[in-house]
Amino acid sequence: MLFLHMQQHNVLILDFGSQYTQLIARRVRELNIYCEIHPFNKLPKNTNEFKAVILSGSPSSVRGEDAPHPDLTLIRGKKPMLAVCYGAQYLAHFSGGKVAPSNTREYGRANLSFVKNNEPFFSNISEGSQVWMSHSDTIKELPTGAVHLASTSDVENAAFRIEGEETYAIQFHPEVYHSTDGKQLLENFLVNIAGVAQTWTPDSFVETTVANLQEKLGNDKVVLGLSGGVDSSVAAVLLHKAIGKNLYCIFVNNGLLRKNEFESVLNQYEGMGLNVKGVDASARFLNALAGLSDPEEKRKAIGNAFIEVFDDEAHLIEDVKWLAQGTIYPDVIESVSVNGGPSATIKSHHNVGGLPDFMKLKIVEPLRMIFKDEVRRVGASMGIDPELLGRHPFPGPGLAIRILGDITSEKVRILQEVDAIFINGLKDSGLYDKVWQAGAMLLPVNSVGVMGDERTYEKAVVLRAVESTDGMTADWVNLPYEFLQKTSNQIINKVKGVNRVVYDISSKPPATIEWE
Ligand code: XMP
Repeated sequence: MLFLHMQQHNVLILDFGSQYTQLIARRVRELNIYCEIHPFNKLPKNTNEFKAVILSGSPSSVRGEDAPHPDLTLIRGKKPMLAVCYGAQYLAHFSGGKVAPSNTREYGRANLSFVKNNEPFFSNISEGSQVWMSHSDTIKELPTGAVHLASTSDVENAAFRIEGEETYAIQFHPEVYHSTDGKQLLENFLVNIAGVAQTWTPDSFVETTVANLQEKLGNDKVVLGLSGGVDSSVAAVLLHKAIGKNLYCIFVNNGLLRKNEFESVLNQYEGMGLNVKGVDASARFLNALAGLSDPEEKRKAIGNAFIEVFDDEAHLIEDVKWLAQGTIYPDVIESVSVNGGPSATIKSHHNVGGLPDFMKLKIVEPLRMIFKDEVRRVGASMGIDPELLGRHPFPGPGLAIRILGDITSEKVRILQEVDAIFINGLKDSGLYDKVWQAGAMLLPVNSVGVMGDERTYEKAVVLRAVESTDGMTADWVNLPYEFLQKTSNQIINKVKGVNRVVYDISSKPPATIEWE
């Protein structure tokens, strides 16, 4: 019943390839409204389940040969529709209006001036409200039946609606933060005009997902690989709520985790009541890495070793039918995007990939429709320890891609000590939660130092702390000098084999977060 209710309050976002499409979805979710992004050329079959439709922007021009030109007859006038930027231009073009290059290309800040007053679409939004523009075409002539609603100094047709329909179009982007009343405008359209209910909350997500998982999985057994990270942990707790002991969790120690991480995280999982098995495969991973120094070869060796260990363990579970994964919505959107996925592979982890087919397991992904911040909110609503939910991201290959060059157990030991001093220091100084990700790298160089009148010739380590929202772009964090000074002293005094500490002050791009 609840699921049905949720579906009837779905919003469909038709993606024309804009860089901001994900942002539209996030803003809608912030209004506690469920929405899904679908590429314009792969419309879902069940469009009836959607209560309203939003057309996204696009890098294309409606006049271009390859521009998205979907048939809107099934939607226009039948569902409340909000068309944004390219979406607005295409709606005009499709409905008999005229779109042409604008004399002044409009990017950035603009201010609305209303042509019609008392429009529910603009309720609680003041004349002059700042909006964000990013377009080079403009709507020269509105289509038949259009009611002109607003202009800016450079754009005559900045907003219009179609008389007798719940169809609205805006040239600006309400989804970006710089459109001051963008969220209010989305609320006006979705809640007041389209009548969508604001029932999408972490609690309702948990209730609905648990019911769906129970129906889908019945008495089947499910295996899941825990990583210690937020996504797999929240996925595990959701599945555990749904099917209890039929969820078999496997937590593999690849020997490349942080200091004491394996034992402490395993304890934490057991404390949460999960049916979890810790598998210490450190030696197997170190063997697989022996002699390798190329980053991609190291990733491949670790990936293969993980599959072997996981497969061995999964075979020990009699009659297991499903493999659960902690995939989240940005990965899904990326893999079904208008362009069909990422354009260039910088590092192999950017490609979404699961375990190979030979496992013969069906896949279940309870988080595949939610964003990272929602995963955290869902985790919190199920009572997961805030410390676990607030953990920094940590790469799957772990310290192997933070030890530049080849890996030995001695190098792992050194880096674990350095990393522990840095991370514990951040926690003790109240800085940990202000940083998106932090860690240390071990460089493959020795440098000369002097300790107690003796010459040393030892390793250099790098400390890296970045702020980011999704890891796609990042900037280094301006950590206090006193903190860096204290941390550097502690590392050099306490970690044998290190005589030099440097702090990484590169942003991404052009650098990346990890050094390999
Ligand atoms: P980069 O170094 O590409 O990192 O700026 C962006 C984010 O991805 C993480 N990362 C990985 N995660 N397997 C993973 O699971 C990998 O091979 C991998 N390489 C980088 C990195 O820690 C950061 O959060």
